Amino acid sequence: MIIETVEKPTSPAPEAERACLASRFSTMKLQGRKIAVLTAYDAPTAKAEEESGIDLVLVGDSVGTNILGYASEKEVTLADISHHLSAVRRGAAHTPVLADLPFGTYETPAAALANAGKLIAAGADMVKFEGPRPDIVEALVHNNIPVCGHLGLMPQHHADRRVKGRKAQEALQLVADAVTLDQAGIAMLVLELVPEEVAGLVTKAVRAPVIGIGAGAKTDGQVLVITDVLGYGGGNFHHSRRYQPVGSLMREAMKAYAADVRAQQFPAAKNSTPMEKEELAILKAELVRRQGGL
Ligand code: KIV
Repeated sequence: MIIETVEKPTSPAPEAERACLASRFSTMKLQGRKIAVLTAYDAPTAKAEEESGIDLVLVGDSVGTNILGYASEKEVTLADISHHLSAVRRGAAHTPVLADLPFGTYETPAAALANAGKLIAAGADMVKFEGPRPDIVEALVHNNIPVCGHLGLMPQHHADRRVKGRKAQEALQLVADAVTLDQAGIAMLVLELVPEEVAGLVTKAVRAPVIGIGAGAKTDGQVLVITDVLGYGGGNFHHSRRYQPVGSLMREAMKAYAADVRAQQFPAAKNSTPMEKEELAILKAELVRRQGGL
């Protein structure tokens, strides 16, 4: 008897998929194809971003001030990020997802590794943290976790929202920090609020793709916060662009709904579900029998 062994098609191991992800973005950098990144914090928005061809979805700690009503990014917890990350993963199953390690979750390489592992388990393909900490990058990369660095304005660490690297010495330090992270093995680098010239220098100096926000046009890609892009919740910042006034559309819809309820225009007949005639007759008869009528 001949027993045929059919080899099951194997999907690549998660680590291999994550390694492919890093090389996908490096290839885009090498080919000069710009990388479009947007934040998302919930499943429907992530789904819309996936359907729109966004290259990478970021579940950033900007969820704190834009969605959760916190006063600062510092209040965001690992549970907050994990919760929103899981929703984003369910909404965008086929788009790479980057998640922020919140403030206080990466003080040591061991803590960073334990917490990054939780974000990977919740659906992240890559994790991001702020600051020039090559020791953390090495610990994560050694454990097959792709890392995105974050330099320039670091909201978890800077109370002000001013452009960083405007002075020559500060700019040189930024480039040096970026090179240090690059040599430690980052797969990507976010540069927030730095002069365009400095972002250009960093982008040339590092192998990793550089994604800018408020960093001019010379980076390998851009990231924006979805609430700023759609004009709800967030601010209207000089570095950002509001593509649609969704906030005012929401308010218009809400006011129209409230007015319809008050004027008894909602629900209409088509929004209601009537009982079947026979069942209604039985119900009425039963109610009459019990208490003398409806
Ligand atoms: O949390 C976030 O949204 C970010 C971007 C501003 C890059 O880190």
